[in-house]
Amino acid sequence: MPTPEELTGQQRAQWSAAAAGWEKWGDWFDRNSGNLAGWLCDAAGLKPGHTALDLACGAGQPSVTAAGRVRPGGRVIATDLSADMVAVTRRKAQQLGLDNLDVQEMDAQALTFPDATFDAATCRFGLMFCPDPVKAASEIRRVLKPGARFATAVWDVPAKNPFFTSIMGVLGEFVPLPPPDPAAPGVFRLAPPGELERVLKAGGFGSVTVEARPIMLTYESLDQYWEIQTALAAPLRAAIASLSAEKVAQLKARVFESLAPNVAGGVVKLAAVPLCAAAIK
Ligand SMILES: C[S@@+](CC[C@H](N)C(=O)[O-])C[C@H]1O[C@@H](n2cnc3c(N)ncnc32)[C@H](O)[C@@H]1O
Repeated sequence: MPTPEELTGQQRAQWSAAAAGWEKWGDWFDRNSGNLAGWLCDAAGLKPGHTALDLACGAGQPSVTAAGRVRPGGRVIATDLSADMVAVTRRKAQQLGLDNLDVQEMDAQALTFPDATFDAATCRFGLMFCPDPVKAASEIRRVLKPGARFATAVWDVPAKNPFFTSIMGVLGEFVPLPPPDPAAPGVFRLAPPGELERVLKAGGFGSVTVEARPIMLTYESLDQYWEIQTALAAPLRAAIASLSAEKVAQLKARVFESLAPNVAGGVVKLAAVPLCAAAIK
């Protein structure tokens, strides 16, 4: 059984390996996310002048949106476990000329900020990858000012997220996959009914609301679906990398076959359901 430190190290390595993919496709994901970054900023109560924290910033969202919302006079500190992801967000901030967005390498479970530093916090698709999400929640609460809000998004149950399960479901035919451990970091770790609310409350948040915000992911073609999903889905990459080219071709053919009902005029549309929570300190 790996220790929490080993699990965190595995996450760091997995996401660092996916950083180039996120740099390439992060904007595609954002365009397809139903303005989730905007929703998170609203739910966190971001206002001009605020000092805000974004955790697990990956390729830079919702950090970048938040940096726009806190102007004039406000700052956003974007943090991520992976130095490679931090570098991606830093490059993005430079490209966009955002001088109020700082980016730091940091584990959400061990924040180095003093108590009551931030007016608001956000985390999009990061909490479920923490080996100890309750510790992360309690750290986030600690660094918020009293009355400040934390807004987060995680993925709902696998059956509502075929964009991910279409590959995962078939992959097991090609490579032995360990049975999913509900207590280990993973895409659907916080999906079971009540689990996200339980984790936030266990972290000390008093008031927590959770809502599903269904979205539709659109890919130009089956080949683009494959390219994007194998680039972004860090947990799948290692398993696919262990297969021979011949096996990968077979896997791809099986996945494409299973996606046929979702293709019209070559374009692939797949439903996805983010579970979104707002919590008040
Ligand atoms: C799916 S990406 C989400 C990136 C971005 N927030 C977005 O929604 O586009 C997950 C990110 O969580 C980060 N992550 C995983 N475990 C973490 C931890 N313990 N602390 C901080 N970040 C973590 C990964 O490095 C990765 O960048």
